[in-house]
This record gives sequence, C-alpha cells and structure tokens, in this order.
Amino acid sequence: MIASLLSGKGGTGKSTLAANLAYAASRLTAKRVILVGADPASRSVEFLVEGRDLPEYGWIEYLTTPEMHFEEIVVQSSLTGNLFVAYSSRERILHGEFEDPNLVAEKISRFKGYIARTGDVVIIDCPAGLAVDHLLYALLFDSYVVTTPAGADLAGTKNFVFTIEREASQYGIAKPFKGVVVNMVRGRGEGEAVAEELALKLIAALPASPEVEKATAKRQLIAKAYPRSSFTQAIYELASKLGLGERHAKKMSLLDTLLNLWRR
Ligand SMILES: Nc1ncnc2c1ncn2[C@@H]1O[C@H](COP(=O)(O)OP(=O)(O)O)[C@@H](O)[C@H]1O
Ligand SMILES: [Mg+2]
Repeated sequence: MIASLLSGKGGTGKSTLAANLAYAASRLTAKRVILVGADPASRSVEFLVEGRDLPEYGWIEYLTTPEMHFEEIVVQSSLTGNLFVAYSSRERILHGEFEDPNLVAEKISRFKGYIARTGDVVIIDCPAGLAVDHLLYALLFDSYVVTTPAGADLAGTKNFVFTIEREASQYGIAKPFKGVVVNMVRGRGEGEAVAEELALKLIAALPASPEVEKATAKRQLIAKAYPRSSFTQAIYELASKLGLGERHAKKMSLLDTLLNLWRR
C-alpha cells in the first residue's frame, strides 16, 4: 500500500500526520512501514530517525537515477524495528530541464511493483504547491488531501483539489483523491462541512491539540511523547481505517493496554 498525503498549502499538518501515522502504523502491523519525506522543507523523517545521519541521496535522486535502487535511500528508524524512512534532498520530480518524465514513470512503476512484492506500507509526505509533481503523486498512489478548516487553507485546498481533478480528468480519471483528512478541527461537524465543500469523502477529522504544538516545539513525535492525547488516538484510528493495522490490531491493543498500565 502506498499512500500520498497532499495539500496545495503549507502548514496544514501533512508532515505531522505523515510521521505520526507511519509510527502508529508500524506499531499496528508487522509489515515494514516506510515514511518517504518527499518534501525537503519539512524533514518530517527527522522525527523518526532522531539525529541519525541520513544518506546523501534521497527519493528524488532515486526516481531520477536509472540505476539507483530503493533500498539505497532507506534508513532504519530508532523507534520501532519495522519502521524506516527515505528522505528527499530535492523538492521536485519534474523541474524545468531536468528530468525525463518517461524515466520517472518507469521508476515509479518499478517502485510500485517492488512494494507490492514486499508488502511494505509506504506513506509519502508530499511537498506543498501545485505543479505536475502533485498530479503524479495524486494519480499514482492512494492519495489523501490534508487541510484545515481555516479560511485561507480551505480556499487554497479547494483550488488545489479542483485543479488536480480537472487535470486528472484528461487522463480519464474522475476521482484522483481517496478523500480528505481535516486537521486542527475545533468543533463537531467541522470535518463534515469541509469534506462537503470539497466534495471529497471525509477520512478523518483530527483535533487541534496543544500537545501537538508542545511536541513540535521539542522536536518530538506526538504519538510517542503523548500516547494518550486526543490527537494520538485519532492517528491510531486513522491508521486502522486506512487498513494499516488490520491483522495485528487485536494483539496490539492488548499490548497498548499493558504499556499504558506500565507507564502509570
Ligand atoms: N492537530 C494539530 N493541532 C495543533 N497544531 C498542529 C496540528 N497539526 C499540525 N500542527 C502544527 O502546525 C504546524 C505545521 O504542521 P506541518 O505538519 O509542518 O504542516 P505541513 O507539512 O502541511 O506544512 C506545525 O507547527 C505543527 O506542530
Ligand atoms: Mg510538510
């Protein structure tokens, strides 16, 4: 399974969501979970590798270098045994003169085949903006839009969603997005209202949470630093909803109960 988290606007919580979702998924499944930090501006992967040196080359080099293998850019996280990261040192796949779209398409299809064989779960933290890359991320993977209900974010997201949908329709794809995750929700019904406005399926509404701000300021992962916060609970629910924890959910909830008892 390869999920891409997208939004036209920065600051909607993609990187926060990606890092925490990858961590939660890694605790709900025995499969290998890989967070791809495709946006060098956020370095969301750093939450998961805690000071460990990242390789010189990343996701974009992998996509645009024929002989490079995915394993060359993957690093083990210090947090759980089945959690890995791949990061990006460059932002765009298709940028001016540099890449050959056929090469990128071929590499992505090889990547998808490889992931399908290994059974890995891959979560891609995409860069903000609206360019041909975003169309690729939307069309090629299980893509989810991340927005907040705030006016400017929602207006930007609306433009993003409708533009990508229009572009996708030229390739015969009517619904490029699986749905929307509404982040920083303060009241009941806010998630539904946003989903309705975007005409997308509501996947999850994540609460605005002071713990997220506290953890971010300390460069900590919320799901780890505040395992019982409402945000962390919502992340685990989302991981299950996306099918990331199906097989091991039962076992893990017992383990979580024990861990919580032990933490007291
Ligand atoms: N649910 C939330 N509640 C409070 N603050 C949040 C929440 N989600 C994200 N944030 C904060 O918003 C800021 C932007 O988040 P980030 O994940 O970097 O967004 P993006 O990757 O979309 O640019 C960060 O400071 C983060 O801590
Ligand atoms: Mg980001």
